[in-house]
Amino acid sequence: MSKPKVFITRKWPASIEEKLKARYDVTLNQHDKALSADDFKAALQHFDAVCPTVCFFFPAEVLNIENKRCKILANFGVGFNHIDIESAKKHQLIITNTPGVLTESTADIAMTLLLMSARRGAEGDRLVRSKQWQGWCPTHMMSSDVTGSTLGLIGFGRIAQAMARKAHHGFGMKIVFFKPSPADQDVIDDLNAIQCESIEQLLKISDFVSLHCPGGDATRHLINKQMLDVMKPEAHLINTARGDVVDTQALIDALKSKQITGAGLDVYENEPNVSEGLLHLDNVSLLPHLGSATIATRTAMGEKVLDNLDAYFTDKPLPDRVV
Ligand code: DGY
Repeated sequence: MSKPKVFITRKWPASIEEKLKARYDVTLNQHDKALSADDFKAALQHFDAVCPTVCFFFPAEVLNIENKRCKILANFGVGFNHIDIESAKKHQLIITNTPGVLTESTADIAMTLLLMSARRGAEGDRLVRSKQWQGWCPTHMMSSDVTGSTLGLIGFGRIAQAMARKAHHGFGMKIVFFKPSPADQDVIDDLNAIQCESIEQLLKISDFVSLHCPGGDATRHLINKQMLDVMKPEAHLINTARGDVVDTQALIDALKSKQITGAGLDVYENEPNVSEGLLHLDNVSLLPHLGSATIATRTAMGEKVLDNLDAYFTDKPLPDRVV
């Protein structure tokens, strides 16, 4: 019997590509070449499964292509806002993702950005490299304390809770969070956390605000000028969720006018194009979407995709079906 045909849209960890080759009639993107909407349309017509990642969009225009052979989009990543869900549903395309395995590494990057922003890490690095550093001085590059300060989490899923554990048990931070539904009481007790009634309430009392909600229409520009105006002037904004949750221009204005002290970003509107306004600011730390970028995590994400493909092609229940 011929093997199912699987299309991989980007280069994946080598060990996973080897497993894919053994199990499927797979087309890899080993040179990581840029693919177009037409490539994806053709892939949907010629392959049984297509495996997208966050960096390529699958809009309605692509998913509406006629004569599709593909029945499953097995996404390499937990977020799936790059896929037009309504069209996927309309065409009965199954979507799976990779939850759970990238929780700790993404929370680590959120803490990295929090520390970089608080302690002006990226700015200090630039100063040393530019040979402009004049030596130690009591008033040089003073910054914000992390230990004992208040961390506000918007969204309180796996990654937010992992960050809260690191911040509370590692740095003695007070934890407040906003989520519209009740949270697990054991988690609240472990973190001595307070659930805020509104995002505004959280913004008013937090020294660091970290975003952990999904991207997409429901949360687009959730953090806008109005919300930034509510934040403390000493506060820092951390975003490892999705770029479009923040109105970039409003953030640039708030950082320029010192409406807030700093920001740390791993995700951007319109990645990989980062707004010029951010590039020229010293009080923002910028990382290139590194949340899950450890060898172990990316390998585990690949294993999850394999689990989902294997289940689909052997008619077993899908471990991580989202649609
Ligand atoms: C995801 O999984 O959604 C991340 O943003 C990519 O690691």
